[in-house]
Amino acid sequence: MMKIIFINASPRKNCNTAQLLQQAQQGAQAAGAQTEYVNLFDLKFTGCRSCLACKRQGMQRCKCYWPDDLSPWIDKILHAQGVIIGTPVYMGGPTAHFHALYERLGFCVLSYDDRSSYLDRKVNVGLIYTMNAPQSYYEAAMRPAFVPIENGLKHLLKGEVLTYACCDTFQVPDYSKYNMGIFDPVHKAQVHQTQFPQDLQAAYAMGEKLAKLN
Ligand SMILES: Cc1cc2nc3c(=O)[nH]c(=O)nc-3n(C[C@H](O)[C@H](O)[C@H](O)COP(=O)(O)O)c2cc1C
Repeated sequence: MMKIIFINASPRKNCNTAQLLQQAQQGAQAAGAQTEYVNLFDLKFTGCRSCLACKRQGMQRCKCYWPDDLSPWIDKILHAQGVIIGTPVYMGGPTAHFHALYERLGFCVLSYDDRSSYLDRKVNVGLIYTMNAPQSYYEAAMRPAFVPIENGLKHLLKGEVLTYACCDTFQVPDYSKYNMGIFDPVHKAQVHQTQFPQDLQAAYAMGEKLAKLN
């Protein structure tokens, strides 16, 4: 059976990124996939510790050996047909938790003999980014920061990489309580009411689409 793993790389479990991921999960389920969802911030883990067990002769490949909460999820991803990861943009890139996952997942399938992927099957990937920046800024200035990660995942997991950017997000429900003078709360509320429902639909469609890829 088609299995898709959903990973929330935002510390907030019910905000923009999580809501989009939950829609994607519903889309995948509607298309018949079996799904599992995890909040990365509930797991105790770090980035790659360079133990190099995954490169040791005689060791099984495509496995992260570091004994912490993330390794079982790396196993699940590498045995699934797809993974959808949602991350907010923090300081111009994905969150540190996203990046730690990327290091661990990517490195344990990377061959140091010829830079190919050890993986003998494909795992399709969906990436959902959320950010304060408007779409035009994302396209011009931010997308380039994500392209190497997208290309890395395409090469190492051998599947398709679908991306969706949800821009100009509603960061807090009441802007008047914060020092956030660079944002226009009226504009933010408007985007939340008009654009965000479309973002949710797009996320649902991504889940459906990923579940239909082989
Ligand atoms: C530490 C931190 C750094 C951020 N850096 C950026 C940034 O560089 N660019 C941007 O557009 N938004 C940035 N944001 C805003 C978040 O990306 C945005 O509010 C996102 O939608 C939050 O996702 P969430 O609601 O799922 O937590 C930042 C937020 C935080 C907390």
